[in-house]
Amino acid sequence: MKIKLVEVGLRDGLQNESVTLPTEVKKEIAVRLLHAGVKHLEVSSFVSPKWIPQLKDAEELFHLLPVRDDVTYRALVPNLKGLTRALMTPASEYAVFMSASESHNLKNINKNIADTLITIKEVVQLATEKGKPVRGYVSTVFGCPYEGNIAMSQVVHICEQLIEMGIYEISLGDTIGVATPKRVKEVIQSVRQSVPLHQLAGHFHDTRGMGVVNSYVAVEEGITTLDSAIGGLGGCPYAPGASGNVSTEDLVYLFDREGIETGLNLTELNETSLFLQEIFAKPLPSKVFQSYVAQ
Ligand code: HMG
Ligand code: MG
Repeated sequence: MKIKLVEVGLRDGLQNESVTLPTEVKKEIAVRLLHAGVKHLEVSSFVSPKWIPQLKDAEELFHLLPVRDDVTYRALVPNLKGLTRALMTPASEYAVFMSASESHNLKNINKNIADTLITIKEVVQLATEKGKPVRGYVSTVFGCPYEGNIAMSQVVHICEQLIEMGIYEISLGDTIGVATPKRVKEVIQSVRQSVPLHQLAGHFHDTRGMGVVNSYVAVEEGITTLDSAIGGLGGCPYAPGASGNVSTEDLVYLFDREGIETGLNLTELNETSLFLQEIFAKPLPSKVFQSYVAQ
């Protein structure tokens, strides 16, 4: 069995860090991740630099990446302005994003859900005309920092609309890391009635230490694409209390030992986190990485 891991450390991981990294350092992280076997790399976001200053060098970073036909370089785009910027770069595919809850959607992208769906439709139409695949993130699926639980019918309805627009994959976001296995199963079993499993991905933040178990349960439910971040970095600056994504090292350790293929090299990942930890001068959250450091 094989799992596709989408590395979101350069985007989700860095967007929540207050120390701004030089573009060359981001490029070095990307190169190390590629060396560790990463084939699906979310590189940056073409969002407003006022909203996410860390990622304001997105154009420059994309142009510095090694040319690799076997690697997907993804960019987050919130609107047509973001897409226009992304189209000028070597990004090979895009991701749009919205929330299942009105309050988080408003805080994060300054629009209500209905208007966001209109914007996303425009982005998907133009990206498709240009031959670029578009992924869709749905945030706060398992709980919102402002509204608490979100109705399953709301989650399913949003996913259906995104798929209808031509989005090839939906990543179900546990933005603030509140999910537990029971809810993960319920959500997947409900959404899969409308969206085939091969078009679903899991995006689990590890705020409460549930990221690994939730990812594992998602795989047991038939999901084969998971998002993770090197070292366990990450978080949405517009979701109070959000912290790191489930770490790539933790998932690779788990799947290696369970005989599930990821194509990633754990030692190279740990070495990449060591490089990052020295830059940030603080311990990274990944447990597997910290045990590597302690050895
Ligand atoms: P806005 O202020 O409402 O935008 O922001 P606007 O359309 O009113 O424009 C205001 C100004 O922003 C204008 O410039 C625009 O040109 C500019 P001015 O005339 O004042 O000089 N602008 C842009 N500039 C560059 N690139 C753009 C762009 N768009 C407008 N694309 C906007 C709306 C969506 C841009 C803003 O709210 C924003 O950037 N939000 C992004 C927030 C974000 O990145 N959050 C984190 C990512 S989502 C996440 O982490 C969750 C996820 O990981 C899944 C999970 O964990 O659940 C994906
Ligand atoms: Mg996230």
